Amino acid sequence: MKFKKKILCIGAGYVGGPSMAMIAHKCPDYRVTVVDINSERIDAWNSPHLPVYEPGLDKIVKQCRGKNLFFSKDIENQIKENDLIFVSVNTPTKTYGAGADMAADLQYLEKTARQILKYSHSSKIVIEKSTLPVKTALTMEKILSSAKGKIKFEVLSNPEFMAEGSAMNDLENPDRVLIGSRETKSGLKARARLVEIYARWVPLKKIITSNIWSSELSKLVANAFLAQRVSSINSISALCEKTDADIVEVAKAVGLDSRIGDKFLRAGVGFGGSCFKKDIFNLVYLCHYYGLREVASYWENIIKINQYQQDRFIANILHAMFGTLAGKKICILGFAFKADTSDTRESPAIYISQKLLTEQAELTISDPRALKNAAIDLAGVKGKITYIDDPYKAAAGCHALLILTDWEMYRTLDYRKLYRSMVKPAFLFDGRNIVDYQKCHAIGFNIYPIGRKALTHF
Ligand code: UDX
Ligand code: ADP
Repeated sequence: MKFKKKILCIGAGYVGGPSMAMIAHKCPDYRVTVVDINSERIDAWNSPHLPVYEPGLDKIVKQCRGKNLFFSKDIENQIKENDLIFVSVNTPTKTYGAGADMAADLQYLEKTARQILKYSHSSKIVIEKSTLPVKTALTMEKILSSAKGKIKFEVLSNPEFMAEGSAMNDLENPDRVLIGSRETKSGLKARARLVEIYARWVPLKKIITSNIWSSELSKLVANAFLAQRVSSINSISALCEKTDADIVEVAKAVGLDSRIGDKFLRAGVGFGGSCFKKDIFNLVYLCHYYGLREVASYWENIIKINQYQQDRFIANILHAMFGTLAGKKICILGFAFKADTSDTRESPAIYISQKLLTEQAELTISDPRALKNAAIDLAGVKGKITYIDDPYKAAAGCHALLILTDWEMYRTLDYRKLYRSMVKPAFLFDGRNIVDYQKCHAIGFNIYPIGRKALTHF
Protein backbone atom coordinates (compact mmCIF):
# COMPACT_ATOMS: atom_id res chain seq x y z
CA MET A 1 0.00 0.00 0.00
CA LYS A 2 1.23 3.49 -0.77
CA PHE A 3 0.94 5.72 2.28
CA LYS A 4 -0.03 9.39 2.05
CA LYS A 5 2.38 10.48 4.80
CA LYS A 6 5.21 8.79 6.67
CA ILE A 7 5.71 9.70 10.31
CA LEU A 8 8.46 8.65 12.69
CA CYS A 9 8.59 8.94 16.46
CA ILE A 10 11.88 8.55 18.32
CA GLY A 11 11.19 7.24 21.85
CA ALA A 12 8.66 4.45 22.51
CA GLY A 13 7.73 5.37 26.08
CA TYR A 14 4.55 6.44 27.87
CA VAL A 15 4.16 9.44 25.55
CA GLY A 16 5.57 8.20 22.22
CA GLY A 17 3.76 4.83 22.18
CA PRO A 18 0.17 5.91 22.92
CA SER A 19 0.31 9.18 20.95
CA MET A 20 1.60 7.47 17.81
CA ALA A 21 -0.91 4.64 18.22
CA MET A 22 -3.66 7.29 18.15
CA ILE A 23 -2.29 8.93 14.96
CA ALA A 24 -2.09 5.51 13.29
CA HIS A 25 -5.64 4.71 14.42
CA LYS A 26 -7.08 7.98 13.15
CA CYS A 27 -5.08 8.12 9.92
CA PRO A 28 -5.06 4.64 8.33
CA ASP A 29 -3.47 6.13 5.21
CA TYR A 30 -0.39 7.33 7.15
CA ARG A 31 2.48 5.02 7.95
CA VAL A 32 3.58 5.55 11.58
CA THR A 33 6.81 4.07 12.91
CA VAL A 34 8.14 4.24 16.46
CA VAL A 35 11.80 3.55 17.23
CA ASP A 36 13.73 3.26 20.47
CA ILE A 37 17.29 2.51 21.56
CA ASN A 38 15.87 0.17 24.17
CA SER A 39 15.40 -3.01 22.14
CA GLU A 40 13.49 -4.81 24.92
CA ARG A 41 10.92 -2.03 24.80
CA ILE A 42 10.49 -2.46 21.06
CA ASP A 43 10.14 -6.23 21.51
CA ALA A 44 7.46 -5.62 24.11
CA TRP A 45 5.57 -3.25 21.78
CA ASN A 46 5.64 -6.02 19.18
CA SER A 47 4.44 -8.66 21.67
CA PRO A 48 1.02 -9.35 23.24
CA HIS A 49 2.25 -7.67 26.46
CA LEU A 50 2.75 -3.97 25.76
CA PRO A 51 5.32 -2.18 27.95
CA VAL A 52 2.76 0.46 28.94
CA TYR A 53 -0.62 -0.23 30.54
CA GLU A 54 -3.24 2.23 29.41
CA PRO A 55 -6.98 1.44 29.14
CA GLY A 56 -7.89 1.12 25.45
CA LEU A 57 -4.30 1.08 24.16
CA ASP A 58 -4.10 -2.67 23.58
CA LYS A 59 -7.09 -2.64 21.29
CA ILE A 60 -5.77 0.14 19.07
CA VAL A 61 -2.25 -1.29 18.87
CA LYS A 62 -3.60 -4.70 17.92
CA GLN A 63 -5.78 -3.13 15.22
CA CYS A 64 -3.01 -1.06 13.62
CA ARG A 65 0.22 -2.97 14.31
CA GLY A 66 1.71 -4.43 11.13
CA LYS A 67 -0.76 -2.45 9.00
CA ASN A 68 0.19 1.20 9.43
CA LEU A 69 1.83 1.16 12.86
CA PHE A 70 5.32 -0.28 13.25
CA PHE A 71 7.75 -0.59 16.14
CA SER A 72 11.35 -0.81 14.97
CA LYS A 73 14.93 -0.88 16.24
CA ASP A 74 16.38 0.41 12.98
CA ILE A 75 16.79 4.05 13.95
CA GLU A 76 19.20 4.89 11.14
CA ASN A 77 17.03 3.76 8.23
CA GLN A 78 13.85 5.09 9.76
CA ILE A 79 15.37 8.55 10.08
CA LYS A 80 16.44 8.35 6.43
CA GLU A 81 12.98 7.28 5.28
CA ASN A 82 10.76 9.71 7.19
CA ASP A 83 10.52 13.47 6.88
CA LEU A 84 8.20 14.17 9.83
CA ILE A 85 9.96 13.15 13.04
CA PHE A 86 8.46 13.40 16.51
CA VAL A 87 10.96 13.36 19.37
CA SER A 88 9.62 11.78 22.51
CA VAL A 89 12.69 10.74 24.46
CA ASN A 90 13.04 10.98 28.22
CA THR A 91 14.10 14.26 29.81
CA PRO A 92 14.59 13.35 33.49
CA THR A 93 15.84 15.70 36.19
CA LYS A 94 19.63 15.96 36.18
CA THR A 95 21.24 13.93 38.95
CA TYR A 96 24.80 15.20 38.56
CA GLY A 97 26.88 18.34 38.06
CA ALA A 98 25.53 21.87 37.57
CA GLY A 99 21.79 22.09 38.17
CA ALA A 100 21.66 18.63 39.78
CA ASP A 101 18.21 17.72 41.20
CA MET A 102 16.61 20.61 39.37
CA ALA A 103 17.52 21.19 35.73
CA ALA A 104 16.33 18.89 32.96
CA ASP A 105 18.89 16.38 31.74
CA LEU A 106 18.87 17.03 28.02
CA GLN A 107 21.51 14.49 27.04
CA TYR A 108 19.00 12.11 25.42
CA LEU A 109 17.44 14.91 23.46
CA GLU A 110 20.80 16.16 22.25
CA LYS A 111 21.88 12.64 21.26
CA THR A 112 18.65 12.29 19.30
CA ALA A 113 19.26 15.59 17.50
CA ARG A 114 22.73 14.37 16.55
CA GLN A 115 21.33 11.06 15.30
CA ILE A 116 18.83 12.92 13.13
CA LEU A 117 21.61 15.11 11.77
CA LYS A 118 23.89 12.17 11.06
CA TYR A 119 21.40 9.97 9.22
CA SER A 120 19.34 12.54 7.33
CA HIS A 121 19.81 12.73 3.58
CA SER A 122 16.90 15.10 3.04
CA SER A 123 15.16 18.04 4.75
CA LYS A 124 12.89 17.21 7.68
CA ILE A 125 10.45 18.61 10.19
CA VAL A 126 11.46 17.72 13.75
CA ILE A 127 8.73 17.96 16.37
CA GLU A 128 9.46 18.18 20.09
CA LYS A 129 6.88 16.16 21.97
CA SER A 130 8.75 15.65 25.26
CA THR A 131 8.26 18.34 27.91
CA LEU A 132 11.26 20.61 27.71
CA PRO A 133 12.60 23.79 29.24
CA VAL A 134 11.70 26.87 27.23
CA LYS A 135 14.39 27.60 24.59
CA THR A 136 15.31 23.94 24.07
CA ALA A 137 14.25 24.20 20.43
CA LEU A 138 17.13 26.62 20.01
CA THR A 139 19.59 23.87 21.00
CA MET A 140 17.91 21.52 18.54
CA GLU A 141 18.09 24.14 15.82
CA LYS A 142 21.75 24.89 16.48
CA ILE A 143 22.72 21.22 16.24
CA LEU A 144 20.59 20.59 13.17
CA SER A 145 21.72 23.76 11.40
CA SER A 146 25.17 22.27 10.93
CA ALA A 147 23.72 20.00 8.24
CA LYS A 148 25.58 20.03 4.97
CA GLY A 149 24.31 21.17 1.59
CA LYS A 150 20.67 21.90 0.97
CA ILE A 151 19.30 19.89 3.89
CA LYS A 152 17.13 22.08 6.13
CA PHE A 153 15.40 21.25 9.40
CA GLU A 154 12.37 23.00 10.79
CA VAL A 155 11.84 22.50 14.53
CA LEU A 156 8.30 22.59 15.96
CA SER A 157 7.03 22.26 19.52
CA ASN A 158 3.94 20.10 20.04
CA PRO A 159 3.74 19.27 23.75
CA GLU A 160 1.57 16.38 24.84
CA PHE A 161 -1.05 17.15 27.52
CA MET A 162 -2.47 13.66 27.97
CA ALA A 163 -2.59 12.22 31.47
CA GLU A 164 -1.79 8.60 32.27
CA GLY A 165 -4.73 6.33 32.91
CA SER A 166 -6.92 8.42 30.60
CA ALA A 167 -4.36 8.81 27.80
CA MET A 168 -6.39 7.27 25.00
CA ASN A 169 -9.44 9.40 25.74
CA ASP A 170 -7.26 12.52 26.15
CA LEU A 171 -5.58 11.80 22.82
CA GLU A 172 -8.87 11.20 21.07
CA ASN A 173 -10.69 14.20 22.59
CA PRO A 174 -8.00 16.68 23.64
CA ASP A 175 -8.95 20.00 25.29
CA ARG A 176 -6.49 21.51 22.85
CA VAL A 177 -3.57 20.63 20.61
CA LEU A 178 -0.77 23.16 20.79
CA ILE A 179 1.70 23.67 17.96
CA GLY A 180 4.51 26.20 18.25
CA SER A 181 6.78 27.22 15.41
CA ARG A 182 9.13 29.90 14.22
CA GLU A 183 7.06 32.62 12.63
CA THR A 184 9.03 32.48 9.39
CA LYS A 185 7.66 31.35 6.02
CA SER A 186 9.17 27.89 6.39
CA GLY A 187 8.15 27.68 10.07
CA LEU A 188 4.53 28.47 9.26
CA LYS A 189 4.55 25.97 6.39
CA ALA A 190 5.84 23.23 8.68
CA ARG A 191 3.23 24.15 11.30
CA ALA A 192 0.48 23.82 8.67
CA ARG A 193 1.67 20.29 7.84
CA LEU A 194 1.34 19.26 11.46
CA VAL A 195 -2.08 20.94 11.82
CA GLU A 196 -3.20 18.83 8.86
CA ILE A 197 -2.48 15.62 10.77
CA TYR A 198 -4.40 16.55 13.92
CA ALA A 199 -7.25 18.03 11.88
CA ARG A 200 -8.10 14.49 10.81
CA TRP A 201 -9.89 14.04 14.14
CA VAL A 202 -9.53 17.19 16.28
CA PRO A 203 -11.86 20.16 15.56
CA LEU A 204 -9.86 23.06 14.09
CA LYS A 205 -10.90 25.44 16.88
CA LYS A 206 -9.09 23.18 19.34
CA ILE A 207 -5.83 23.24 17.41
CA ILE A 208 -4.02 26.32 18.59
CA THR A 209 -0.78 27.70 17.26
CA SER A 210 1.76 29.98 18.84
CA ASN A 211 5.36 31.00 18.69
CA ILE A 212 7.70 28.19 19.62
CA TRP A 213 8.74 29.57 23.02
CA SER A 214 5.15 30.08 24.19
CA SER A 215 4.43 26.50 23.26
CA GLU A 216 7.39 25.12 25.20
CA LEU A 217 6.59 27.25 28.24
CA SER A 218 2.84 26.52 28.18
CA LYS A 219 3.42 22.85 28.86
CA LEU A 220 5.54 23.57 31.92
CA VAL A 221 3.03 26.12 33.18
CA ALA A 222 0.00 23.83 32.66
CA ASN A 223 1.64 21.14 34.78
CA ALA A 224 2.76 23.66 37.40
CA PHE A 225 -0.82 25.01 37.71
CA LEU A 226 -2.26 21.51 38.09
CA ALA A 227 0.31 20.58 40.72
CA GLN A 228 -0.35 23.88 42.47
CA ARG A 229 -4.03 22.99 42.88
CA VAL A 230 -3.13 19.65 44.43
CA SER A 231 -0.70 21.29 46.86
CA SER A 232 -3.21 24.03 47.66
CA ILE A 233 -5.93 21.56 48.64
CA ASN A 234 -3.41 19.37 50.50
CA SER A 235 -2.17 22.33 52.52
CA ILE A 236 -5.76 23.09 53.53
CA SER A 237 -6.29 19.42 54.47
CA ALA A 238 -3.70 19.92 57.23
CA LEU A 239 -5.70 22.86 58.54
CA CYS A 240 -8.93 20.84 58.35
CA GLU A 241 -7.44 18.13 60.56
CA LYS A 242 -6.73 20.78 63.22
CA THR A 243 -10.09 22.53 63.04
CA ASP A 244 -12.70 19.78 62.44
CA ALA A 245 -13.51 21.23 59.03
CA ASP A 246 -13.90 18.55 56.37
CA ILE A 247 -11.69 18.85 53.26
CA VAL A 248 -14.21 17.10 51.02
CA GLU A 249 -16.88 19.61 52.00
CA VAL A 250 -14.49 22.54 51.66
CA ALA A 251 -13.34 21.36 48.21
CA LYS A 252 -16.95 21.01 47.08
CA ALA A 253 -17.94 24.46 48.31
CA VAL A 254 -14.86 26.10 46.80
CA GLY A 255 -14.99 24.15 43.53
CA LEU A 256 -18.59 25.12 42.80
CA ASP A 257 -17.39 28.64 42.13
CA SER A 258 -17.22 28.52 38.34
CA ARG A 259 -14.13 30.74 38.38
CA ILE A 260 -12.30 28.12 40.44
CA GLY A 261 -13.81 24.90 39.06
CA ASP A 262 -14.09 21.53 40.75
CA LYS A 263 -11.26 19.56 39.13
CA PHE A 264 -7.95 18.69 40.78
CA LEU A 265 -9.21 19.44 44.26
CA ARG A 266 -8.94 15.94 45.71
CA ALA A 267 -6.74 15.95 48.80
CA GLY A 268 -4.47 12.96 49.21
CA VAL A 269 -0.97 11.76 49.98
CA GLY A 270 0.46 14.11 47.35
CA PHE A 271 1.07 14.07 43.64
CA GLY A 272 3.42 11.68 41.89
CA GLY A 273 4.12 10.83 38.27
CA SER A 274 6.95 11.59 35.96
CA CYS A 275 5.87 15.15 35.15
CA PHE A 276 4.77 17.40 37.99
CA LYS A 277 7.87 17.42 40.17
CA LYS A 278 10.26 17.39 37.24
CA ASP A 279 8.47 20.19 35.42
CA ILE A 280 8.24 22.42 38.49
CA PHE A 281 11.94 21.93 39.20
CA ASN A 282 12.51 22.81 35.60
CA LEU A 283 10.48 25.99 35.98
CA VAL A 284 12.28 26.88 39.20
CA TYR A 285 15.67 26.33 37.57
CA LEU A 286 14.70 28.53 34.64
CA CYS A 287 13.54 31.32 36.96
CA HIS A 288 16.85 31.18 38.85
CA TYR A 289 18.72 31.19 35.55
CA TYR A 290 16.96 34.42 34.56
CA GLY A 291 17.53 35.94 38.02
CA LEU A 292 13.85 35.70 39.11
CA ARG A 293 14.44 34.56 42.69
CA GLU A 294 10.99 35.40 44.07
CA VAL A 295 9.23 33.64 41.21
CA ALA A 296 11.43 30.58 41.69
CA SER A 297 10.68 30.39 45.40
CA TYR A 298 6.92 30.80 44.79
CA TRP A 299 6.83 27.67 42.60
CA GLU A 300 9.29 25.74 44.74
CA ASN A 301 6.82 25.80 47.63
CA ILE A 302 4.48 23.51 45.67
CA ILE A 303 7.06 20.76 45.90
CA LYS A 304 7.67 21.52 49.58
CA ILE A 305 3.97 21.12 50.40
CA ASN A 306 3.88 17.85 48.45
CA GLN A 307 6.74 16.52 50.55
CA TYR A 308 5.18 17.88 53.74
CA GLN A 309 1.93 16.06 52.97
CA GLN A 310 3.73 12.71 52.76
CA ASP A 311 5.73 13.36 55.94
CA ARG A 312 2.55 14.40 57.71
CA PHE A 313 0.82 11.19 56.62
CA ILE A 314 3.67 9.10 58.04
CA ALA A 315 3.76 11.11 61.28
CA ASN A 316 -0.01 10.55 61.68
CA ILE A 317 0.42 6.79 61.27
CA LEU A 318 3.21 6.67 63.81
CA HIS A 319 1.30 8.77 66.30
CA ALA A 320 -1.95 6.80 65.90
CA MET A 321 -0.19 3.46 66.25
CA PHE A 322 1.21 4.28 69.70
CA GLY A 323 4.55 5.68 68.52
CA THR A 324 6.05 2.45 67.20
CA LEU A 325 5.77 0.39 64.03
CA ALA A 326 8.60 -2.01 64.84
CA GLY A 327 7.57 -5.56 63.95
CA LYS A 328 4.03 -4.47 62.95
CA LYS A 329 2.61 -5.64 59.65
CA ILE A 330 1.31 -2.92 57.37
CA CYS A 331 -0.61 -3.55 54.16
CA ILE A 332 -0.22 -0.99 51.38
CA LEU A 333 -3.14 -0.94 48.96
CA GLY A 334 -2.00 0.77 45.78
CA PHE A 335 1.52 1.52 44.64
CA ALA A 336 0.90 3.25 41.28
CA PHE A 337 1.08 7.07 41.42
CA LYS A 338 -2.60 7.19 40.38
CA ALA A 339 -5.34 4.79 39.32
CA ASP A 340 -5.47 3.02 35.96
CA THR A 341 -1.76 2.92 35.35
CA SER A 342 1.13 0.59 36.12
CA ASP A 343 3.45 3.60 36.37
CA THR A 344 5.09 4.16 39.76
CA ARG A 345 7.46 6.98 38.85
CA GLU A 346 7.63 9.46 41.77
CA SER A 347 4.73 7.63 43.40
CA PRO A 348 4.22 8.77 47.02
CA ALA A 349 4.05 5.03 47.82
CA ILE A 350 7.81 4.72 47.25
CA TYR A 351 8.77 7.31 49.85
CA ILE A 352 6.09 6.21 52.32
CA SER A 353 7.19 2.55 52.05
CA GLN A 354 10.82 3.48 52.61
CA LYS A 355 9.96 5.50 55.71
CA LEU A 356 7.79 2.73 57.16
CA LEU A 357 10.60 0.22 56.62
CA THR A 358 12.98 2.57 58.42
CA GLU A 359 10.54 2.38 61.35
CA GLN A 360 10.99 -1.43 61.11
CA ALA A 361 7.46 -2.13 59.94
CA GLU A 362 6.90 -5.21 57.75
CA LEU A 363 5.11 -4.43 54.49
CA THR A 364 2.74 -6.36 52.28
CA ILE A 365 2.12 -4.47 49.08
CA SER A 366 -0.83 -4.99 46.76
CA ASP A 367 -1.72 -3.27 43.49
CA PRO A 368 -3.74 -4.50 40.51
CA ARG A 369 -1.14 -3.34 37.94
CA ALA A 370 1.99 -1.95 39.50
CA LEU A 371 3.51 -4.76 41.58
CA LYS A 372 6.30 -5.43 39.08
CA ASN A 373 7.37 -1.79 39.15
CA ALA A 374 6.97 -1.66 42.95
CA ALA A 375 9.45 -4.52 43.30
CA ILE A 376 11.92 -2.68 41.07
CA ASP A 377 11.49 0.58 43.02
CA LEU A 378 12.07 -1.09 46.37
CA ALA A 379 14.81 -3.49 45.28
CA GLY A 380 17.74 -3.15 47.64
CA VAL A 381 15.74 -1.30 50.31
CA LYS A 382 16.38 -2.92 53.69
CA GLY A 383 13.42 -4.58 55.42
CA LYS A 384 10.75 -7.21 55.00
CA ILE A 385 8.46 -6.71 51.99
CA THR A 386 5.98 -9.15 50.42
CA TYR A 387 4.12 -8.49 47.17
CA ILE A 388 0.63 -9.98 46.95
CA ASP A 389 -1.92 -9.51 44.16
CA ASP A 390 -5.03 -10.31 46.16
CA PRO A 391 -5.87 -7.44 48.57
CA TYR A 392 -7.62 -9.80 51.00
CA LYS A 393 -4.59 -12.07 51.28
CA ALA A 394 -2.33 -9.01 51.56
CA ALA A 395 -4.35 -7.57 54.46
CA ALA A 396 -4.71 -10.78 56.48
CA GLY A 397 -2.77 -10.63 59.73
CA CYS A 398 -1.87 -6.94 59.32
CA HIS A 399 -2.14 -4.21 61.96
CA ALA A 400 -2.96 -1.45 59.46
CA LEU A 401 -4.20 -0.81 55.93
CA LEU A 402 -2.89 2.16 53.95
CA ILE A 403 -4.71 3.21 50.78
CA LEU A 404 -2.19 5.05 48.61
CA THR A 405 -3.72 4.83 45.11
CA ASP A 406 -7.28 5.75 44.14
CA TRP A 407 -8.04 2.48 42.31
CA GLU A 408 -11.82 2.14 41.86
CA MET A 409 -11.69 -1.42 43.26
CA TYR A 410 -10.57 -0.12 46.66
CA ARG A 411 -13.89 1.74 47.06
CA THR A 412 -15.84 -1.47 46.91
CA LEU A 413 -13.68 -3.98 48.79
CA ASP A 414 -15.44 -5.98 51.48
CA TYR A 415 -14.07 -3.99 54.43
CA ARG A 416 -15.89 -6.21 56.92
CA LYS A 417 -13.99 -9.22 55.59
CA LEU A 418 -10.73 -7.27 55.64
CA TYR A 419 -11.36 -6.14 59.22
CA ARG A 420 -12.06 -9.67 60.40
CA SER A 421 -8.73 -10.95 59.08
CA MET A 422 -6.62 -8.21 60.69
CA VAL A 423 -4.87 -7.83 64.07
CA LYS A 424 -6.92 -5.70 66.51
CA PRO A 425 -7.09 -2.81 67.08
CA ALA A 426 -7.18 -2.48 63.28
CA PHE A 427 -6.18 0.80 61.63
CA LEU A 428 -7.17 2.17 58.23
CA PHE A 429 -5.31 5.18 56.82
CA ASP A 430 -7.14 6.32 53.72
CA GLY A 431 -4.57 8.39 51.84
CA ARG A 432 -7.01 9.06 48.99
CA ASN A 433 -10.30 9.61 50.85
CA ILE A 434 -12.06 6.92 48.85
CA VAL A 435 -13.69 4.64 51.42
CA ASP A 436 -16.97 5.27 53.21
CA TYR A 437 -15.20 6.21 56.40
CA GLN A 438 -18.22 6.24 58.69
CA LYS A 439 -19.16 2.74 57.56
CA CYS A 440 -15.59 1.51 58.09
CA HIS A 441 -15.63 3.02 61.57
CA ALA A 442 -18.88 1.22 62.31
CA ILE A 443 -17.28 -2.05 61.17
CA GLY A 444 -14.62 -1.57 63.84
CA PHE A 445 -11.72 0.20 62.13
CA ASN A 446 -9.91 3.14 63.64
CA ILE A 447 -10.01 5.24 60.51
CA TYR A 448 -7.80 8.17 59.54
CA PRO A 449 -8.82 9.96 56.34
CA ILE A 450 -6.99 12.99 54.92
CA GLY A 451 -8.31 16.38 55.98
CA ARG A 452 -11.29 15.07 57.91
CA LYS A 453 -11.75 13.99 61.49
CA ALA A 454 -10.30 10.61 62.43
CA LEU A 455 -12.90 8.19 63.83
CA THR A 456 -11.51 5.87 66.49
CA HIS A 457 -12.74 3.49 69.14
CA PHE A 458 -10.36 4.67 71.85
C1 UDX B 1 -0.04 15.18 34.24
C2 UDX B 1 -0.93 16.19 33.52
O1 UDX B 1 -2.27 16.06 34.01
C3 UDX B 1 -0.90 15.96 32.00
O2 UDX B 1 -1.64 16.98 31.34
C4 UDX B 1 0.54 15.98 31.53
O3 UDX B 1 0.61 15.70 30.13
C5 UDX B 1 1.39 14.98 32.30
O4 UDX B 1 1.29 15.24 33.71
P1 UDX B 1 -0.28 12.64 34.97
O5 UDX B 1 0.98 12.88 35.74
O6 UDX B 1 -0.37 11.45 34.08
O7 UDX B 1 -0.59 13.90 34.03
O8 UDX B 1 -1.50 12.52 35.99
P2 UDX B 1 -2.51 13.52 36.72
O9 UDX B 1 -3.88 13.03 36.53
O10 UDX B 1 -2.26 14.92 36.36
O11 UDX B 1 -2.14 13.29 38.26
C6 UDX B 1 -0.89 13.65 38.80
C7 UDX B 1 -0.85 13.36 40.29
O12 UDX B 1 -1.68 14.25 41.01
C8 UDX B 1 -1.30 11.95 40.66
O13 UDX B 1 -0.41 11.42 41.63
C9 UDX B 1 -2.68 12.15 41.24
O14 UDX B 1 -3.02 11.16 42.17
C10 UDX B 1 -2.51 13.51 41.90
N1 UDX B 1 -3.79 14.23 42.07
C11 UDX B 1 -4.50 14.66 40.98
C12 UDX B 1 -4.28 14.48 43.36
O15 UDX B 1 -3.65 14.11 44.35
N2 UDX B 1 -5.46 15.16 43.49
C13 UDX B 1 -6.20 15.59 42.43
O16 UDX B 1 -7.25 16.21 42.64
C14 UDX B 1 -5.70 15.33 41.13
P1 ADP C 1 7.98 9.54 28.55
O1 ADP C 1 7.15 9.31 29.78
O2 ADP C 1 8.35 10.99 28.35
O3 ADP C 1 7.41 8.91 27.31
P2 ADP C 1 9.81 7.30 28.83
O4 ADP C 1 11.00 7.19 29.70
O5 ADP C 1 8.62 6.43 29.09
O6 ADP C 1 9.40 8.84 28.84
O7 ADP C 1 10.23 7.04 27.30
C1 ADP C 1 11.29 7.64 26.65
C2 ADP C 1 11.91 6.63 25.69
O8 ADP C 1 12.91 7.28 24.89
C3 ADP C 1 12.64 5.46 26.38
O9 ADP C 1 12.07 4.22 25.98
C4 ADP C 1 14.11 5.59 25.92
O10 ADP C 1 14.75 4.34 25.71
C5 ADP C 1 13.94 6.34 24.60
N1 ADP C 1 15.16 7.02 24.14
C6 ADP C 1 15.98 7.81 24.86
N2 ADP C 1 16.99 8.27 24.08
C7 ADP C 1 16.79 7.78 22.83
C8 ADP C 1 17.49 7.89 21.57
N3 ADP C 1 18.59 8.62 21.47
N4 ADP C 1 17.00 7.22 20.50
C9 ADP C 1 15.87 6.47 20.62
N5 ADP C 1 15.17 6.32 21.77
C10 ADP C 1 15.61 6.97 22.86
